[in-house]
Amino acid sequence: MRKLVSLIILIILGLFPNCKGAPSLSPSLNDDVLGLIVFKADIKDPNGKLASWNEDDDSPCNWGGIKCNPRSNRVSELNLDGFSLSGKLGRGLLQLQALRKLSLSKNNLTGSLSPALVRLPNLRILDLSENGFSGVLPVDYFRQCGPLRTVNLANNKFSGQIPDSLSSCVGISVLNLSANQFSGALPAGIWGLQGLRSLDLSYNLLSHEIPKGMDGLANLRTINLSGNRLTGRIPPEIGGCSLLKSLDFSGNLFSGNLPKSLLNLSFIGYLSLGDNSFVGQVPEWIGGLKGLENLDLSANNFSGLLPASVGKLRSLKVLNVSMNSLSGSLPESMASCLSLQIIDFRQNLLTGDLPKWIFKVALQEILLSENKFGGTMDDSLASAEEASHQSLEVLDLSHNVLTGAIPSALVNFSSLAFLNLSKNSLTGPIPRYFGELRALNVLDLSENKLNGNIPTEIGKATALQELILEKNFIEGIIPTSIEHCSSLSVLILSHNSLEGPIPLALSKLADLQIVDLSSNDLSGSMPKQLANLQHLVSFNVSHNNLQGELPGGFFNTINPSAVSANPSLCGSATKKSCSTVLPKPIVLNPNSTGDAFSGSSLPATFGQKKNLLSISSLIAIGAAAVIVIGVIAITVLNLRVRASASRSAAALALSNGDDFSNSPSTDANSGKLVIFSGEPDFSTGTHALLNKDCELGRGGFGAVYRTVLQNGRPVAIKKLTVSSLVKSQEDFEREVKKLGKIRHPNLVTLEGYYWTQSLQLLIYEFISGGSLHKHLHEGGGGNFLSWNDRFNVIVGMAKGLSHLHQLNVIHYNLKSSNILIDSSGEPKVGDFGLARLLPMLDRYILSSKIQSALGYMAPEFACRTVKITEKCDVYGFGVLLLEVVTGKRPVEYMEDDVIVLCDMVRGALEEGKVEECIDERLQGRFPAEEAIPVMKLGLICTSQVPSNRPDMTEVVNILELIRCPSQEDSG
Ligand SMILES: *[C@@H]1O[C@H](CO)[C@@H](O)[C@H](O)[C@H]1NC(C)=O
Ligand SMILES: *[C@@H]1O[C@H](CO)[C@@H](O)[C@H](O)[C@H]1NC(C)=O
Ligand SMILES: *[C@@H]1O[C@H](CO)[C@@H](O)[C@H](O)[C@H]1NC(C)=O
Repeated sequence: MRKLVSLIILIILGLFPNCKGAPSLSPSLNDDVLGLIVFKADIKDPNGKLASWNEDDDSPCNWGGIKCNPRSNRVSELNLDGFSLSGKLGRGLLQLQALRKLSLSKNNLTGSLSPALVRLPNLRILDLSENGFSGVLPVDYFRQCGPLRTVNLANNKFSGQIPDSLSSCVGISVLNLSANQFSGALPAGIWGLQGLRSLDLSYNLLSHEIPKGMDGLANLRTINLSGNRLTGRIPPEIGGCSLLKSLDFSGNLFSGNLPKSLLNLSFIGYLSLGDNSFVGQVPEWIGGLKGLENLDLSANNFSGLLPASVGKLRSLKVLNVSMNSLSGSLPESMASCLSLQIIDFRQNLLTGDLPKWIFKVALQEILLSENKFGGTMDDSLASAEEASHQSLEVLDLSHNVLTGAIPSALVNFSSLAFLNLSKNSLTGPIPRYFGELRALNVLDLSENKLNGNIPTEIGKATALQELILEKNFIEGIIPTSIEHCSSLSVLILSHNSLEGPIPLALSKLADLQIVDLSSNDLSGSMPKQLANLQHLVSFNVSHNNLQGELPGGFFNTINPSAVSANPSLCGSATKKSCSTVLPKPIVLNPNSTGDAFSGSSLPATFGQKKNLLSISSLIAIGAAAVIVIGVIAITVLNLRVRASASRSAAALALSNGDDFSNSPSTDANSGKLVIFSGEPDFSTGTHALLNKDCELGRGGFGAVYRTVLQNGRPVAIKKLTVSSLVKSQEDFEREVKKLGKIRHPNLVTLEGYYWTQSLQLLIYEFISGGSLHKHLHEGGGGNFLSWNDRFNVIVGMAKGLSHLHQLNVIHYNLKSSNILIDSSGEPKVGDFGLARLLPMLDRYILSSKIQSALGYMAPEFACRTVKITEKCDVYGFGVLLLEVVTGKRPVEYMEDDVIVLCDMVRGALEEGKVEECIDERLQGRFPAEEAIPVMKLGLICTSQVPSNRPDMTEVVNILELIRCPSQEDSG
């Protein structure tokens, strides 16, 4: 079976398990293959990661992302992490009854989760993290939990309360619901999960106090409740979770003191309580948490001294007590914390000299800014240990009250990347050695009392990205050596006493983004080359003595305040025009260059246009000719002109069709009439009259008239309006003859034709019931098609088209006005194959002929590179199908909106509201288990990519599968 058809059948089977007719197929299919193919059909796989999933295989065990149990050959694991899949989980996965692990992490899957998923009898690991799943999990979602051990729904969009039924998952050991929008209180049931080892509920919207009973989690190793809105105190029961290694309650609204029972957590290594409202002293007992490696108490209201017992934390690597109200000096005992790597004491009220121990321990980061540390840096730096010289990367002593010079000992810190000594009272010159600190990225010495020059050696600091020296007393020039600081992106030298010109060197620093040289004594003109700096965001030179013209480029649009207060600077932003006369711009006249550009591109375009024009004008001319002819009467042998038609003019005699034994002969050679079926009445003479009164309709290829043969039998006659494009008589007759041989109960029979050079008529059987369009959209009263009628119409159309395609005839012009309904309700597809009469299957002609059929036209008509195949009919059929089911036109024009039917149905399906699309006249009177698969089929038929559409034979098969036997019997 071809891949697509079985795929679609499977989708539909998966969709209507209630329909008893369908599962007769399934015994031959492996349940796992079926489930996986249905799953695959429901999702998008843009990177083709599931390409190896072929439903023709007997076993899925070699497919990508799949592991089977070697004994049972059933799928035991599905690992599709990071496959870039999107769409929704359909019901396919529910077939995988032996599945133990389902891991779909890091995709773009959306929609809600079926409770049946957690009921899979063998599922142990469910990892759906990092997707776009959403919805509320009902309170009893986990009621039948099965053997689940790991549930990871992190990083999705789930909302509502965490279902209390989680307590039924007694085997659960890892629960991760982090980074969703779960709200409300923590369900107390969680505390009953005795096997729980890891609980991550961080970054949700959980509120209220932590419920009682937490000490039930005797096996808990990790708990993360950070980033919620939890209130109250930390329950002392926490001490009962005696195996805890990691506790993160940061970023909540917890308050009060820390409970001493924390001391029972003898394995605790990671304790993060930052960003809450805890008060009081940092407790002395904290020194008892011997295994602590990471302690974060930042952003609370802790006050008083940091207890000396902290010195007992020999394993401590990271200590963060920033943003509290700690006072006094740091305990010397911390010199024993030999594992320390990072200390963060920023934003406290700490006093005293810089502690010596901070340069004895091999710290990587020392963050002491915004305190009240005083004295000079000399002492503590001079006694720094070699280990510290190697390790220190970040030193932030800013915003304290340090005095004295910047000590020369800093040069020894060879790994230093970030040095911020700003906002102190440092004096003396800027040391020359900063150029030696090859790792230095950021040097901020601003807002001190430094004097002297910017040392030329700064040019050696090739890694320097930010040089910030503002608000000091620095004098002299900006050294040209700065051009070697090739990484520089931020240069702030404002509020100093720099003089001399802005060096050309700056224009060589290609990464410069922010430059502030304001409030100095800089003079001279600005180098024009500064205009070449591509990444500039701001360049402030206000309050200097610069003169001359602004460099242009970036400076043409610079904020005027950035160049203000330079009395002799001119250019647009300064609101002062420069005195020099600008050369007149050369203005080219685009019109005069026409000849000069007479290369290949222009004429080619023109040529194409002409071509298009000639084709469309041909069509226009063709149409005009028809209008001129106006009302035509044809008289066929022995005609008896009816009085009412006597105003009609041209009487045409018809000649004998030599090829056809039954064809009538005529007295003149002016035209040729051929009747395939050899109807005696026709040959004995009848009269057909084509006038407006008998017009049945007009289509892309011509108008259709009803007329009556002499024996009283009505026929429909189509007058082709494309006559000027029609092939030679020979070709025309050959094609028409082919079309005439096509007989099918669901196709309108072509009974004959009439040919002259200027006029061609096609003679069809007459169908009395009117068009589908009329039935759907012009019915008016209560006489609408029932569901069964509609299903019959859909099936009939499909059968008719399928027959056409088997004969290699493409219809090209499907629309509801071309589908006729006969007196017994059977649909007949008309107007097929007419494009064959044109000299070539020109897309332009086709699409312009068919544009009246707006909304039915397959997208490939607009795309020259895609071959047009019979799949364009499948598209049109899909639209027709949706039209029949919804009762809506393919394109509806609302007041200020255009609604495209298939987009609307597709959208409704995605939102799970597809039933609302079904014709409201049918509401309550259709079987959903038929209607929904039918609509899905319609959507598949209207796939943008032709190869994704099924072929019509498949469609017929699928439709027969969809129809529930019960419906068929009763209907
Ligand atoms: C999800 O889709 C977005 C665009 O829709 C894409 O940028 C992103 O890479 C996708 N993520 C994954 C994990 O495939
Ligand atoms: C929870 O899942 C998220 C996303 O996959 C992950 O970043 C986080 O580390 C997990 N939590 C735990 C405790 O493993
Ligand atoms: C070029 O021709 C256009 C149209 O003829 C005219 O509007 C326009 O002013 C001409 N431009 C110049 C520069 O002469």
